[in-house]
Amino acid sequence: MSITKHPIFQPLQRQELSLKNRLVIAPMSRVSAGADGSATAEMAEYYAAFAKGGFSMVITEGNYTDEAASKGYPNQPGLTSPLHALAWKPVVDQVKSHGALIIAQLMHAGALSQYSDDTKAPSAVQPVGVKMAQYGGTGGYPFPKAMSLDDIDIVKNGFVKAARFALQAGFDGVELHMANGYLLDQFLTPELNVREDLYGGSTSNRFRIAAEIIQSIREFVPPHFLVGIRLSEGKVNDLKYRWKEGEAMAVEVLEEVRKAAPDFIHIAVQSGEWERDSFYSSGTSYSALAKQITGKVVIANGGMHQLTRASTAIEDAHADLLAIGKAALADPAWPLHTLNGAQARAFHPDMLWPEATIQHTNKIIKSQQLSIA
Ligand SMILES: Cc1cc2nc3c(=O)[nH]c(=O)nc-3n(C[C@H](O)[C@H](O)[C@H](O)COP(=O)(O)O)c2cc1C
Repeated sequence: MSITKHPIFQPLQRQELSLKNRLVIAPMSRVSAGADGSATAEMAEYYAAFAKGGFSMVITEGNYTDEAASKGYPNQPGLTSPLHALAWKPVVDQVKSHGALIIAQLMHAGALSQYSDDTKAPSAVQPVGVKMAQYGGTGGYPFPKAMSLDDIDIVKNGFVKAARFALQAGFDGVELHMANGYLLDQFLTPELNVREDLYGGSTSNRFRIAAEIIQSIREFVPPHFLVGIRLSEGKVNDLKYRWKEGEAMAVEVLEEVRKAAPDFIHIAVQSGEWERDSFYSSGTSYSALAKQITGKVVIANGGMHQLTRASTAIEDAHADLLAIGKAALADPAWPLHTLNGAQARAFHPDMLWPEATIQHTNKIIKSQQLSIA
């Protein structure tokens, strides 16, 4: 098959979303914003390179949503003030000038903050694993405080305000981060949420916070402003986590998602092991179920730079779009290079070690240019 015929290079035409190809930048935290959470000129260059390199949609790294307890790591960008909106604007403008859409990911770290020992979560359940050194973390995660209903109101207002600041900055939409073990995923995960009020217990209660956020955001944004949601089973601190109930739980969660009616659903596989970590014994995947149950645009993620996997994902109706992370970080022009038959620069773990900053990745790319296959 000629590469131009590959499903990743075919346009997507849906009422809510039209794109020139199926290639999306996965959200990647880069620890490179100013100390006050403002996006920088370096970030504008970094994000524009993906649009220039042929990706049709860029999802930013997770932005913190309130000043109370949402921050995940130092030098994380935020969307909590007009100044933050102003700082993102040049990044947004540059990405759009190359013809791509740009979506702001909204993230509350909850119990998985890398630097605060004063964390809050749905319940006082200590996260497993240790903090991530590349994001400034050291040692184990502390026991979080269980959120009061007032705390939950602060969280919800934070997400809604952040969406409004994203609109102000010119973003095409927002993605609620309900994946990878962060706050909204903590609400959704039965082992991490043992609340006995309206926000715990049944799947509908555990999803309630996201449903309420989506509904409130819709009240403030125009209809063309996209509101998406990212979901996963695996967590950054527990990559192989799967629901005990397997596919039955996926169906229950997606029924709630269908009712909340986001514009797109992004199913993440942080480990990159898509088949291992996103399929059920029946042979279906979380993302295929998302398509069937919700009828919405679905993005699949997890090693999707592998062309055979990518064509299976699209042709076998597991997804409409594919989000690419590390391969794009190594080579922002991955789509153009792949299309032109040039060898894309491959990802190397040193690009994110010992720190995950843009500056560090650029330094490694420069120094290892010749040794990276
Ligand atoms: C450096 C780095 C930072 C990440 N930060 C985020 C983030 O802010 N939000 C998020 O939802 N996922 C984040 N992820 C997960 C990626 O979006 C993606 O799920 C993961 O890299 C697997 O995709 P890949 O196999 O294409 O790399 C991050 C991944 C990397 C490598």
